[in-house]
Amino acid sequence: MHLTATDTGYSAALAVTAIFMLALSYANGFATLPTELDRTQRCHLERTYKMVGYNCANLNLKEIPQWLKTNLEILDLSFNRIRDLNVQSFARYESVKYLYLFENMIQNIEEGTFSELSNLEAIDLSFNALKSIPLEIFQLPSLRNLYVGHNVLQDLEADLTALQKPIKAPLQVLSIADCRLQRLPDFGILPDLWHLNISSNPMKELTLQQLSPMCNLNMIDLNNTKTDGCACQVMAAELVLRGTTVKYLPMSCIPISVSEQERCKAEFNDKRTEDDFYAFEQCMEVRKARKLDNEAKVTWMTISGIVALCIVLFALILYCLHRRNAKKLKASRRTKKRAALNNINRVISTPSQAEEEPVGTAKNEKLLSDCD
Ligand SMILES: *[C@@H]1O[C@H](CO)[C@@H](O)[C@H](O)[C@H]1NC(C)=O
Ligand SMILES: *[C@@H]1O[C@H](CO)[C@@H](O)[C@H](O)[C@H]1NC(C)=O
Repeated sequence: MHLTATDTGYSAALAVTAIFMLALSYANGFATLPTELDRTQRCHLERTYKMVGYNCANLNLKEIPQWLKTNLEILDLSFNRIRDLNVQSFARYESVKYLYLFENMIQNIEEGTFSELSNLEAIDLSFNALKSIPLEIFQLPSLRNLYVGHNVLQDLEADLTALQKPIKAPLQVLSIADCRLQRLPDFGILPDLWHLNISSNPMKELTLQQLSPMCNLNMIDLNNTKTDGCACQVMAAELVLRGTTVKYLPMSCIPISVSEQERCKAEFNDKRTEDDFYAFEQCMEVRKARKLDNEAKVTWMTISGIVALCIVLFALILYCLHRRNAKKLKASRRTKKRAALNNINRVISTPSQAEEEPVGTAKNEKLLSDCD
């Protein structure tokens, strides 16, 4: 009896534990697993311009989904709750061209996270909590558009001293708006850059020299950049001369009078050294070399096109000649054959045709009669 009592107590305890475990696994199963699955399944596949894309925006995601098709080219992860990115985050998605990560809570990006994304053309990291950006971004060979505005990048200038210049990314559009920058960092020459947004930064100074490495600048947004008047005046005047559209020029950059303008210009020319515009000339040289390269390419393509056309024409002429000769040969062969056939026919048919040939018959008769 004593034994069975402890036995029942023991098995009751076991049963309770089992039920508890079961309940726990059910809770886990129903409360967490399905919702996670449900959410990620709601990343929907979209085809835009024949590209495979996933729209995972606004799904409360904390991690990068790892079960999307690996050949995706567009990945929209905006408006989520992602905090960290690491080397594994995009390891499966090397074909991605457009990556949208704006409006998350990204604080840390492990070095190497983007290194293998050689197809990446645009990345938007705006509205996050980044204190720095991984330098490998600037070496991505296809990256044209980089948006990192609305982060806390006040140390970007110091971070970029370690940057290998000139950068490999053919940057065309760069937004570093509202990043608490006090100076424009040095990215090295940017011969493709045509759009620069540095609005809403408390710039202590902004000079023409700092913009020198961007010789192709078409548009610059200077809204709400508090900057020194004289340097800014000279810069704005020069940019306008270069054909750059300056959006929202700070009031301090607009000269009050002609005399002030002259004073600023004189001051600038006094300070100016040859090195100041070295970057601009370098940038122009890259563009010029590229233009010459393109022209050479076009010339070569034209020449090879003409040569190819000549070869095709020549081949066509040869072919036509050959066909004509072949036809002629055939025709002459045919006539020869026909003639030969006729001859044979004549030889064969002459005796049997004797009756039909009055002349022949007459001749024969004549011969016969002659014999008589
Ligand atoms: C520059 O960035 C600000 C802040 O993100 C944005 O409001 C503004 O439209 C941008 N300017 C241009 C010209 O795109
Ligand atoms: C300029 O920046 C301020 C402050 O961020 C903003 O309120 C304003 O709308 C901006 N103006 C334009 C024209 O973008």
